[in-house]
This record gives sequence, structure tokens and C-alpha cells, in this order.
Amino acid sequence: NLKGVDIRAEIDRLRKERNAVILAHYYQKPEIQDIADFVGDSLDLSRKAQATDADVIAFCGVRFMAETAKILSPQKTVILPDMDAGCSLEDSCPPEQFAAFRAQHPDAIALTYINCSAAVKALSDVIVTSSSAEKILSQIPKDQPIIFGPDRNLGGYLARKTGRDLILWPGVCIVHEAFSETELLKLKAQHPTAPIVAHPECPAVILDHADYVGSTRGILEYAMAMPGDTLIVATEPHIIHQMEKALPNKTFIGAPGADGNCNCNICPYMALNTMEKLYVALRDLSPRIEMEEDLRLKAKKSLDAMLAMAS
Ligand code: 13P
Ligand code: SF4
Repeated sequence: NLKGVDIRAEIDRLRKERNAVILAHYYQKPEIQDIADFVGDSLDLSRKAQATDADVIAFCGVRFMAETAKILSPQKTVILPDMDAGCSLEDSCPPEQFAAFRAQHPDAIALTYINCSAAVKALSDVIVTSSSAEKILSQIPKDQPIIFGPDRNLGGYLARKTGRDLILWPGVCIVHEAFSETELLKLKAQHPTAPIVAHPECPAVILDHADYVGSTRGILEYAMAMPGDTLIVATEPHIIHQMEKALPNKTFIGAPGADGNCNCNICPYMALNTMEKLYVALRDLSPRIEMEEDLRLKAKKSLDAMLAMAS
């Protein structure tokens, strides 16, 4: 029973007492973003997790992100406010099926999106994030066959952008799949001069209308530099919190789903984390990410390759 507990003050007290760092993704609730020591995209969060000298990492994001932190910083205690914070891309790619997919393409290397389980990372050669994928792909010889999973939208985008022939795993992000082209065009008609920014997890029909495609950090940087006063944002709408904080006089509109508003594009996994659960996790040092050392070392290889190639 948390009645009467000053959650914000308790989180502050506990983070000092435990020498904890709070890392948050841009898709977290505003109050979590505001209390975090660092807010970032997947690549920046993994770099922070690796570099921190804190004893505890409180990871406010989804499970694969907290797992990544544990893989890179095994001596640290990594807690996740809600262990059920998964990801539809991870769910779409069970390790046994991914291993069979690899076996069907014995000459191909596996370039894999970070949104997957540690077991799939262990079966991969190089991990990418949306902000590092193009740079990493450009370092792989042109004649090298590549399988790319689990996001077929990001993979398709990379293939179109670079002219590479990628063998795609058929996974999708349920959040970015939910944008409606018809509703987006209606919104654009109401704001004809507003640029559209989109995350590459969106399907091609949405990306085709975007003035800028990039990771959450890339999208924020675009917003910070844009000359106009209105922006249409086709990614998880909690990122708009950072835009409104930095640019209170500008207007940011979440791209709509089929029902005409952007609420259906809230990530249900990210939304499982709350301030109350963050407080309890810091108090109890649980739920905690644990991983077998053998699996960790195998998964670390592909993550280390990413960090080296992305730098
Ligand atoms: P980035 O923050 O790396 O752009 O990734 C977004 C995402 O889908 C996280 O689930
Ligand atoms: Fe996974 Fe999509 Fe949620 Fe990101 S937004 S965590 S890709 S379900």
C-alpha cells in the first residue's frame, strides 16, 4: 500500500542511497522522463548503460533494453519497473525459429535490430539500432548476403535507402503499424506546411509521406532545428513531451491511427512502467534482470560489434 508515500521524494532518496542511475526511453510517461538522469534513444541508452559507474541501473524502457544494459554491464544490478514490459518485435522472433531461418541462409550474416531477446542477439553477428543501422550496413561488403530481423519495416526502409538486398524476417512493431495513411493525409491537408517526421518502424506507406525518417533522437533533433511552427510526428507520442518542453511555442501533433487520434499508438509495453513501480523496484531491487553467463557472452559479441561499428 503506497498511500501517503511521496513517490517522487522516495525515488530521489533511494537513487542516492543505492547509487542508482535512472535511464529512460523517450516513449516513457512524462513524469518518468522528467525524473530520469538520462533520456535517450536505444543506442544512447546502451552507451550510457555501459559507461555509468552507478551500482544500480533502473531501466525505464522495455525488457530488451534492460537486458542490453545487463549484457554490457554484468557487475551492475539492473532493475526494470515491470518485467512484463516486452516488445512485439521481440515476440515475433522466437530464437528457435530464428536459428532455423539462419540455417536456411548459410552464407548470410545476421544483422539484427536491437529489439529482440538476448537469445536472438546470441544468434546474430551484428546488432543495429535505428540510429546506427545505415552506418553499420555501409561497412558490410556489397556482395555479402545479409538476413535482417526482426523488423521488416526497418529492413525494407534500409533496403530501399541503400539499394541493398536484405533477406527480411517478417516481424512488425504493433505501435508503428497502427498509423493510418488515410488519416495522416487528412491531417496533412489541415496543416499543409507542417513537415512529417517518422520512425523507420513505420510501414512504407507512411514513410513515403515523411520529410524526415530517423530514430527517436534523430526525430527530436529535427524538431529542434525546424524553421516552421508545426510538426506531425509519426512515432510513439510520448516523445512529444521532450519537444513541448524545449519548444513550448510550437505545435506538435501525433500522427493518427485509423480512429483519427494518436492514442492507439501508445506503446502498451512501455506504458506498463509507472512511477510507483519505479519506486518499488528501487526499494526492493526487484524485478531484476538476471542472465546466464554463457548466453550473456554470446549476446555481447554482436552488441560489441554494434558499438564498435556505430562509433
Ligand atoms: P529508437 O529510440 O532507437 O529510435 O527506437 C525506438 C523503439 O522502437 C524503441 O522500441
Ligand atoms: Fe517494441 Fe514498438 Fe513498443 Fe518499440 S514501440 S517497444 S518496437 S512494441
